[in-house]
Amino acid sequence: SKVTLRAATSTSLDGHVVQIDDVIGGVVGVLNDSFEGSYTAMDAMVTPASNLKFGDYQCNAAMKLAKPLKMKPRDVASILVEQLKEKMAGDFEELEIAGPGFINMKLQRSYLERAVQTMASDNDRLGIPKSSDPKRVVVDFSSPNIAKEMHVGHLRSTIIGDTLANLLEFKGHSVLRLNHVGDWGTQFGMLVEHLKDEFPAALSGESVDLGNLVVLYKAAKKRFDEDDDFKVRAREGVVRLQSGDEESLAAWRCLCEASRKEYDKIYKLLSIKGLEERGESFYNDMLKDVVEDLEGQGLARESEGAMAVFLDGYANKDGSPLPLLVKKSDGGFNYATTDLAAIRQRAQVEKADRVLYVTDSGQAQHFKMVFEAAKLAGLREDGVSLEHVPFGLVQGEDGKKFATRSGDTVKLMDLLQESIRIASNDVGGREVEGWEDGQELPEEFKRTAEIVGISAVKYADLSMNRESNYKFSYGRMLSLQGNTAPYMLYARARICSIVKKASGIEGVEEGGMTWPEPAPVVLGEEAEIELARQLVKFGDILYDVEKELYPNRLCDYLFETSQKFSAFYESCSVIKAETEELKASRLTLAVTTAKVLTKGLGLLGIEVVDRL
Ligand code: ARG
Repeated sequence: SKVTLRAATSTSLDGHVVQIDDVIGGVVGVLNDSFEGSYTAMDAMVTPASNLKFGDYQCNAAMKLAKPLKMKPRDVASILVEQLKEKMAGDFEELEIAGPGFINMKLQRSYLERAVQTMASDNDRLGIPKSSDPKRVVVDFSSPNIAKEMHVGHLRSTIIGDTLANLLEFKGHSVLRLNHVGDWGTQFGMLVEHLKDEFPAALSGESVDLGNLVVLYKAAKKRFDEDDDFKVRAREGVVRLQSGDEESLAAWRCLCEASRKEYDKIYKLLSIKGLEERGESFYNDMLKDVVEDLEGQGLARESEGAMAVFLDGYANKDGSPLPLLVKKSDGGFNYATTDLAAIRQRAQVEKADRVLYVTDSGQAQHFKMVFEAAKLAGLREDGVSLEHVPFGLVQGEDGKKFATRSGDTVKLMDLLQESIRIASNDVGGREVEGWEDGQELPEEFKRTAEIVGISAVKYADLSMNRESNYKFSYGRMLSLQGNTAPYMLYARARICSIVKKASGIEGVEEGGMTWPEPAPVVLGEEAEIELARQLVKFGDILYDVEKELYPNRLCDYLFETSQKFSAFYESCSVIKAETEELKASRLTLAVTTAKVLTKGLGLLGIEVVDRL
């Protein structure tokens, strides 16, 4: 056979926090050293182990390569194992061949010891490397609509989008957070015309209090539906606005400003930072050109007075072709036109490599069609990745539409305040003697209640697989039991107090512990080893979320980490450890756990408290 064994060049992890990429790299190196051919990451077939009992990683390359190599899978596996042992000698303790030729790879204890220490010594990054291939990423999220209520769907988008942006930034990507607000479109015709009648001061650019925007929207809509003259005015109004009429623009700005004030309150309460408003209106000047471009390329054609792109494989229920509308019969443009223009702008001007769109899954088809049209029209380079990040519906506890008792839509501000109110009662009940329901919290606990209330909403959302629908339940999300924010905050606070007690370090500020110096880690007990193995997986989890965009995997990981810590703490005394070295080592494990939880929760947009 073609096997040419050479001494493998070492690629030891050297105590760095392992990333699955390193393992893949090691296997690829061995493949290229041992067999003729040029192998890539695809051939290494390395995955995280499905069961930690067998190891940390699993390599299935032998099965895939046996045939082309004309060898038995187990023989390929034994060559791989021999070479891997040499190459990654310090990293893996057991390289076991199972079944037809699976290779189980278990991290070596001495590696875990060094890696945990590396993590403990690095407050900022916990030894987690930045991406070796940093990209320019646009995250398009939140994106409510002007003069309309911001609803729970926008809340999900805001929470998920913010987490993904935080995580990508932490991994070293250059992230642009864009709020693609719905601030342009036909509804502004009727709104602006209505303002002209009801709030004439708005036309001169004065700042006017428009009162409740939802009421205003409903009134304008009512006139539009019932009064034909007003309808005509509204239609002409859109054209006037979109062609730059100063008075119309002033009224429009007034509306945008009023909406912005409302959603800024929500962003403030949710601590959403760095989100740049760049609404649909931003792309207005580019729309005509995009449609002409599509027409010129023969992609868009007339259909019942409108312009549309017909893509293969899209049909209505009755089988008739489903068009992607890019221009209305009255000359106005569509939601899709703006998205096509935005793709071109983001690719060409923002130089985005990756664009994420965080919206409900109801828009899946829209994005599929828009991405396909953009590709056909060459609106973006081939390398630009456009990704819809869909999420499911928020439902009431009964599985029906999420609404108030009287059936109205729930206002986001009310929802968040209600969560803070319940958290205040929980915190009050624990911390204030003779606490009574509804009582105002002493100042020192107010912030805690706010953090708990807000984190509960965020964590409940993030800990679900984003694609499934989830039932909104204050009881569940605010429970101290289970995979919830209060539990995670509590678990972290408890570890902090263990660290304080064991190290004698006080001087702790809110959320910012002063950590004891990390000491050499010595792993003996099974529970210590299990905790260490869990801790060094942090990098792999972040890497996974960076690629696959499922924040619930990070939540699951953090929850498991806190459980592994509990198991460790039950069987291994920190304060009463037999030797000073062991005490320092266990303290370092506790510190690393606390740092991992702090960092993980931070990426989820959750502020921590040192006492709960
Ligand atoms: N405003 C839209 C909505 O409320 C979401 C916009 C999403 N982003 C985009 N580029 N289409 O559903």
